[in-house]
Amino acid sequence: MTLSPELVLHGGRPLRGRLRLPGCKGISHRALLFSALGEGRSHITNLADGEDVSSTAAALDHLGVRVRIGADGAAAIMAHGVDGLREPEAVIDCGNSGTTMRMLCGLVAGRPFLSILTGDTSLSRRPMRRVVDPLRAMGARLDGRADGELAPLTVRGGSLHGIAHELAVASGQVKTALVLAGLQADGETEIVEPAPSRDHTERMLGALGAPIERVDDRTLRVRAGAPQAFELVVPGDPSSAAFFVVAASIVPGSSIVLEDVSLNPGRIEYVEILREMGARIEVEVTETRLGEPVGSITVEAAPLHGIEISGHEAIIDELPVLAVAGAFADGITTIRDAAEMAVKETNRIGALEQELSQLGIGVETRPDGLVVRGGSPTGATMKSHGDHRIALCAAVAGLGAVGETTVRGWPAVAISYPRFEADLATLLEDE
Ligand code: S3P
Repeated sequence: MTLSPELVLHGGRPLRGRLRLPGCKGISHRALLFSALGEGRSHITNLADGEDVSSTAAALDHLGVRVRIGADGAAAIMAHGVDGLREPEAVIDCGNSGTTMRMLCGLVAGRPFLSILTGDTSLSRRPMRRVVDPLRAMGARLDGRADGELAPLTVRGGSLHGIAHELAVASGQVKTALVLAGLQADGETEIVEPAPSRDHTERMLGALGAPIERVDDRTLRVRAGAPQAFELVVPGDPSSAAFFVVAASIVPGSSIVLEDVSLNPGRIEYVEILREMGARIEVEVTETRLGEPVGSITVEAAPLHGIEISGHEAIIDELPVLAVAGAFADGITTIRDAAEMAVKETNRIGALEQELSQLGIGVETRPDGLVVRGGSPTGATMKSHGDHRIALCAAVAGLGAVGETTVRGWPAVAISYPRFEADLATLLEDE
């Protein structure tokens, strides 16, 4: 899909109607990786169509797993278990995807061959020791620039032994890497997190019969084993949903229903935060799919007021759009305990300050977050900073702002939500 270099929006048009979102990015990465661990053919429908998930699919292809993805997001994966993985002939390019690079490290750490993982300039600046250190402790040989802190990374895999490891930072990506390694290791691997992180991995692998056990909300135990091949319709992405939830909340007259979304409690904590700000949001779980609650989110526009938000892994991806909600709220919204925002695809603390300021909103940065003085944002020219979530935040701000907004660097949305503009158009079309 070719995306135009800029998105131009006219603020104040209500969003109305029903929408089915692209598949959850986090579940899509995992579905691909877990199908590669199993034996036989897995079928995945509504796979996320962004570039990040394509990076994971391409990486598996390099490792000898047959991945066929149709134009409609239907994927067929033919795998022969971990023993069927083979040494990649070329350097694996993880693109912009931290999830691909970190999780892949865990998958190949147990394989008796060399893998070389690289990424784009943004990924090459992101911290990797958090995954490199524990995998080294399990017996794999990993290296990279700055003693393994920065990509490109080399992974010389081999026999692994289970360890008890306390993660340096709560991270769904690092936890998953250690689970993938633990499934290939001798003995038991115990992973303790300083705080809970997203739990798709344990839900999905548990539902697929892999030897993984949640001891408490901070501790997981894994033994050697593999999930079975499976079929999955990936539910809609709750983080992508957040952009529409905030847009519909801030544009008066809006009323939308987002259907078939993952309602994993750890992924929709932003709903509770927005309700606390005054938003009118209903959530209805209608089924469970591979351990994931799935259902709909209904939003009606409502006046918002500022609050204090304490950041943690489960809402880290939604903090930028919550800052946008804060820009339209009455009073001050403070985001704290969110220093990790600075080491995402871009420094999101700095990027939000720059971009929200363009709208005439007062923003102060802190090392661990932001203070946003809500008001009446006016349309402006904003930049994506090459970061998909900043681009989408700018679009949401433009929908609520008075007058016209231009989002420069719009193609960054290809990472997680290439068809955002088309989906948005379906909600605006009745006007
Ligand atoms: C993810 C975990 C989070 C999140 C990222 C996806 C995952 O990263 O920001 O977009 O799928 O596990 P960290 O693990 O670095 O917190």
